[in-house]
Amino acid sequence: MNVLVTGGAGFIGSNFIYYMLEKYPKYRIVCFDLLTYAGNLETLEEAMDNPNFRFVKGDIANREEIFNLFEEEKFDIVVNFAAESHVDRSIENPGIFLRTNVFGTQVLMDACRKYGIKRYHQVSTDEVYGDLPLDRPDLFFTEESPIHTSSPYSASKASADLLVLSYYRTFKLPVTISRCSNNYGPYHFPEKLIPLMISRALNDQPLPVYGKGENVRDWLYVEDHCSAIDLIIHKGTEGEVYNVGGHNERTNLEVVKTILKELGKPDSLITFVTDRPGHDLRYAIDPSKIQRELGWKPQVKFDEGIRMTIKWYLQNSKWWQNIINGEYSSYYEKMYGNRQVIAG
Ligand code: NAD
Ligand code: TYD
Repeated sequence: MNVLVTGGAGFIGSNFIYYMLEKYPKYRIVCFDLLTYAGNLETLEEAMDNPNFRFVKGDIANREEIFNLFEEEKFDIVVNFAAESHVDRSIENPGIFLRTNVFGTQVLMDACRKYGIKRYHQVSTDEVYGDLPLDRPDLFFTEESPIHTSSPYSASKASADLLVLSYYRTFKLPVTISRCSNNYGPYHFPEKLIPLMISRALNDQPLPVYGKGENVRDWLYVEDHCSAIDLIIHKGTEGEVYNVGGHNERTNLEVVKTILKELGKPDSLITFVTDRPGHDLRYAIDPSKIQRELGWKPQVKFDEGIRMTIKWYLQNSKWWQNIINGEYSSYYEKMYGNRQVIAG
């Protein structure tokens, strides 16, 4: 099998590449990534030594680059992780989200149509369903929940999903979609909640919690997401959407306090700052379809996963220190400099 992994220099894509290289030693894996601020070749250093791995730098929205790559490689499976992925950045600059997440998806699928593939898999998100109320813990997102987006990020991901389903219906392209809840684990870029809080707590810096910290996210250890995608691309039914999540709901404040406790740092580092505009209240996935139809089961509970993640950040401080010492410091100043401190 020749597998194209787009966005493989980012958080989940890189974890997926390592997962696949280990599980399928006979597969060829080609990573295509633009190396935006979120892409990091250091992350793929170990994979570079594997003769079954190839890295190509490029833009999924560049038709010529993509078509040339498909002409050369004759892929069997395409897994599209490439995206602009941060909600806060989408509030600052929506345009790039449409270009990469929507137009890029179209270019990839056009190449799949022209050159032929066995499966195109779109890595989507539970954020396409919008949010659930905090006072209804009985409600969960199913694959039938209406698309109801809140941020330019989630709107771009939902648009791409609709386009993917249209290519299935109209052109019979063999597609699948996974909609996963929030991931955490190794190689997570420190602009997202968990790695941001770990890296700042380790430096004894204030931890910016939006609003009252009562928003709920449903956390999944990244390897469990990789195993779900593995099952879907090999056994999933064409044209189907699969929700992926492990019932690990936590408020943001619970997550931050757990991190502080594990690191032996004081709660006084917590600073409540101005809320994110349009901030989704609660995400919660009903994963019964993928469990029932494909036998998927998450292996890692949150308490264990957060400990493994913290350990990884402690053992790999060079990886994230290199990031926060670079362009990132001006990003932090721009995004958080104007946020009013409410308490803390
Ligand atoms: P990430 O931001 O860490 O990585 C994205 C990667 O895509 C980077 O390596 C970047 O360089 C690359 N990229 C960006 N624009 C590109 C372009 N035009 N052409 C080629 N490469 C480009 O993101 P992530 O957290 O690993 O998310 C991966 C995918 O999973 C995204 O599609 C995201 O929507 C989805 N997802 C993420 C989560 C989560 O919790 N992080 C949850 C569910 C779904
Ligand atoms: P994030 O990691 O950006 O993921 P998403 O918005 O896609 O769920 O944020 C997770 C939650 O943490 C979300 O409710 C926003 C909140 N948050 C903070 O409170 N402070 C922060 O500095 C960040 C980045 C996020």
